[in-house]
Amino acid sequence: MNNQTTVRVWDILIRLFHWSLVISFIVAYLTSEEENSWHIYSGYTVLGLIIFRLIWGFVGSKYARFSDFVRSPAMVCQYVKDLRAGHPQHYLGHNPLGGWMVIALLLTLFAVTLSGLKVYAIEEGKGPFAGVESIELAPIAAAYAEDGDEDEGDEDREQKPNEADEEFWEEIHEATTNLMLLLIALHVFGVILSSRLHKENLIKAMLTGNKNRQ
Ligand code: HEM
Repeated sequence: MNNQTTVRVWDILIRLFHWSLVISFIVAYLTSEEENSWHIYSGYTVLGLIIFRLIWGFVGSKYARFSDFVRSPAMVCQYVKDLRAGHPQHYLGHNPLGGWMVIALLLTLFAVTLSGLKVYAIEEGKGPFAGVESIELAPIAAAYAEDGDEDEGDEDREQKPNEADEEFWEEIHEATTNLMLLLIALHVFGVILSSRLHKENLIKAMLTGNKNRQ
């Protein structure tokens, strides 16, 4: 604590994590249509950041820990009730709703990066999944491909396992990315709404690390 009212909430690693994640995600998103290494490098950066955040959620500073902000459904319901009434409780760390949003963002990002690595392995034969058979998912992928390509000839059918796998993982990669866009929009909306309701600047707090006790 710096003085009686200002509290160091976000440590330096959380702040670096957050803004590096924002930049890496934007770079990965903007380079997704091009065949260049920026997409791969930024994707790996996102994955590295998520792994760091998972570890930091257990051993990091007070407000960075999952135990500080992953709260029970009852507390989330109470928070939503208070929010709708216009007087939500103030939290120094993530509020109960924001806490679950953090989990949703991290899990979805994890799914985005893993599916991206699967596509990379199938298309380029590179990355940690190169040469790894997705045995459990092969029948699902094949069924999925049969649904989509009913009128294809025998020649195409011979290539199916790999193509089906590729198409399957590409769809997952795209769908999880779209879900990410929705979550980010809700996340930024939540940050702005919460800043207004509590008359505090949460974006500034994610830059300086400090918040005022209310
Ligand atoms: C310009 C857009 C963005 C702004 C202004 C913003 C702002 C913030 C703020 C203020 C917080 C802290 C919320 C709180 O006080 O409870 C936060 C947390 C977080 N944001 Fe963002 N954010 C942005 C974009 C993103 C994007 C694009 C992602 C993901 C790719 C993201 C992921 C996260 C995560 C995971 C946390 C939790 C931080 C932690 O505890 O480690 N944010 N963001």
